[in-house]
Amino acid sequence: MSPMSYAFFRGDYVPLSEAKVSIMTHALHYGTGVFEGIRGNWNEENGAIYIFRLREHYERLLRGCRLLMLDIPYSLEELCNITVEMVERCGFSEDLYIRPLAYKSAEKVANLKLQDLESDFCLLAVPFGSYLGTDILRCCTSSWRRVDDPMIPARFKISGIYVNSILAKTEATLAGFDEAIILNQDGHVCEGSGENLFLVSDGKIYTPPIEDNVLPGITRDTVMQLAQSELGLEVLETHIDRSQIYISDECFLTGTAAHLTPVVEVDNRKINDGTVGPISAKLQKLYFDIVVGRNPKYIHWCTVATPRLVSV
Ligand SMILES: Cc1ncc(COP(=O)(O)O)c(C=O)c1O
Repeated sequence: MSPMSYAFFRGDYVPLSEAKVSIMTHALHYGTGVFEGIRGNWNEENGAIYIFRLREHYERLLRGCRLLMLDIPYSLEELCNITVEMVERCGFSEDLYIRPLAYKSAEKVANLKLQDLESDFCLLAVPFGSYLGTDILRCCTSSWRRVDDPMIPARFKISGIYVNSILAKTEATLAGFDEAIILNQDGHVCEGSGENLFLVSDGKIYTPPIEDNVLPGITRDTVMQLAQSELGLEVLETHIDRSQIYISDECFLTGTAAHLTPVVEVDNRKINDGTVGPISAKLQKLYFDIVVGRNPKYIHWCTVATPRLVSV
């Protein structure tokens, strides 16, 4: 048996290639889903995959389900157990990306009433390496603005909202940049297309507050805690103007897929001397040790899955 991707689909574990939905599916047309992006990090020494902050990802997913009236028949505990079981069954000995999705599975079009539509939950895992494809980032400010809470709340990972991120990311990469920085309707700095944003200025750390329409990132929370408790730095959640990025000492983006990645240039202006700053480097080192289960103090953030090979 060799490792292969499985899906949890309609209540069962099936090979990923067998998990298929009808083209009538509501979520396919209207983006009526809430998803998560979770990383499973392979630890060679221990022969295990460390799933980072699994509970917190499902807590966020379940909050989004409330907004979209997605009734899924699994508790937080069950969702965590299903995920570990699926990762173990896949049998991969490498880093994984784990994608849960709660969605309106009703095969109905021309119906915009959430209360009329049945829901389902599915999950898949695939091998995953670098998301951004580079260790340092050159970013641009996007001409697209982040959606406001009264339009579609950005605090949940709603499938349909990602068209906003996709427009920004596409624009940035076609213009030769690695990532987009998106402003909100007020013109304040919001986040990257799939990452939260941090600045370091005069030894303090700054990041936009959730109310500025940013996703309450789990990596964001991790980095805020580490900056305070491990480096003794003050972390301020405050509005950030675009020009503050240009004159910051350091800038970095955080996300499950992106990890903690330093930004060395924004809008063709170097951040400081255009190299990775010391605080970004220290936080990155701490973070990388923690996510593969190498720091006993933070091992409670990791859920261990031991790959095994099963017959189909
Ligand atoms: C828009 C957006 N902001 C921020 C993040 C970072 O969130 P997390 O650290 O929970 O992955 C993501 C990643 O999913 C995202 O899509």
